[in-house]
Amino acid sequence: MEQARGERARQAAEGAQDNVDGERLRRAIAQLAAFGGRDDGGVSRQTLTDIDLEARRHLVERAKALGCQVAIDDAANLFFRRPGEQDLPPVLTGSHVDTQPVGGKLDGAYGVLAGLELIEALNDARVRTLRPVEVVCWTNEEGSRFGPGCMGSSAFVDPACLPRYRTAVDGDKVSFGDALDRALDRMADVPRRAMKQPLSGFVELHIEQGPVLERAGVPLGVVTGIQSVRWYAVKATGVAAHAGTTPMEVRLDAMAACIEVAHRLQAEAARAADSGLRMTLGRWVVGPNSINTIPGEVEFTVDARCLDEQLLARFDAALRGLVAGHAWRGRMELQPLFARAPTRFPQAMLDVVAQACERTARMAGKPSPIPLTSGAFHDAMYLADHCPTAMIFVPSKNGLSHNAAEETAHEDLVLGARALAHAVAWLACA
Ligand code: GLV
Ligand code: MN
Ligand code: MN
Repeated sequence: MEQARGERARQAAEGAQDNVDGERLRRAIAQLAAFGGRDDGGVSRQTLTDIDLEARRHLVERAKALGCQVAIDDAANLFFRRPGEQDLPPVLTGSHVDTQPVGGKLDGAYGVLAGLELIEALNDARVRTLRPVEVVCWTNEEGSRFGPGCMGSSAFVDPACLPRYRTAVDGDKVSFGDALDRALDRMADVPRRAMKQPLSGFVELHIEQGPVLERAGVPLGVVTGIQSVRWYAVKATGVAAHAGTTPMEVRLDAMAACIEVAHRLQAEAARAADSGLRMTLGRWVVGPNSINTIPGEVEFTVDARCLDEQLLARFDAALRGLVAGHAWRGRMELQPLFARAPTRFPQAMLDVVAQACERTARMAGKPSPIPLTSGAFHDAMYLADHCPTAMIFVPSKNGLSHNAAEETAHEDLVLGARALAHAVAWLACA
């Protein structure tokens, strides 16, 4: 019985893997990249914007054409289901299709499109899996329009988060709740399904977005976990006043105060860099943002990440100390926005993914996969709390992502899709 199941899983996995069609995947990536595509090759498709909704509609139509059952949940996560022989909890794959304000065509989109390619491959190979296979498109992974990131996947795992997320606003004061309702209205023809459904596993395929695989000259990475992350906003309130008439010694210049704190934070981060701390002050909002007015209000964000949670806790204490202990006469506040401890994927899932990557690499005459941890966060970070979860990485050219020039050799994208097909088909039959 055990042996028969193993043989069936092997046949399904190899059938799916061998039927991945690289040209079909290339076309699918180009088609999706046209939604929000920019002249410089990048993509601007922030979550729940009109262009994101059009892209999602395109995916729904493609999934239907493949014979999938399509459903949406209260967080507008989309699910494309290929039924199994039995109505067991499905094996889920997929990622997100929202982008940074200026992003690339692969971050997230690749994982969703490789999932649909897997469905095509299963269809072509006429594989009947024991469990259903589902492809998901999670809502708002990026967190750039509405914070925090991974709203869709975290709300799927813990639906109690959703009411709080609904109050998040973007730069134009549109709430996530309103944007979500608009998206759900537009998808009213797609059947609604409950969140937090049981899953037998989740496998996310993604570009690495960093330099490790490229430097190692290896096309496939088995992701062992995700480093921890904390987000904050620092807000300084002074007095906006005339740039030409206000003597320097009486100014309450919020920018001057923020620059000083920012310098100290950079020094703190530089001291901890060798231990793996990464810090970014990515978004600055300056009021009134005028050349000849002293900034009265400045807010900047802090993104700090590390594999070592202790180090991140020490950074947190230093940041709090800097903001609370500044000598400035104006007001300065620190708002913690998001915190997540490191994620470690279970060994049994790492074994499934390693086996899939090994066969893919061997068949292509490429070096064996290597283990690595993810510097970026992903929806898999939350799914890991819900079901056995794993990730596969392919290299990013020059380690570059969150940039229009984000790129991966097409050959590597195909290898990643083959490895994903093997792993998911295996899990769906084992
Ligand atoms: C995801 O986009 C991240 O910032 O890690
Ligand atoms: Mn991503
Ligand atoms: Mn991203």
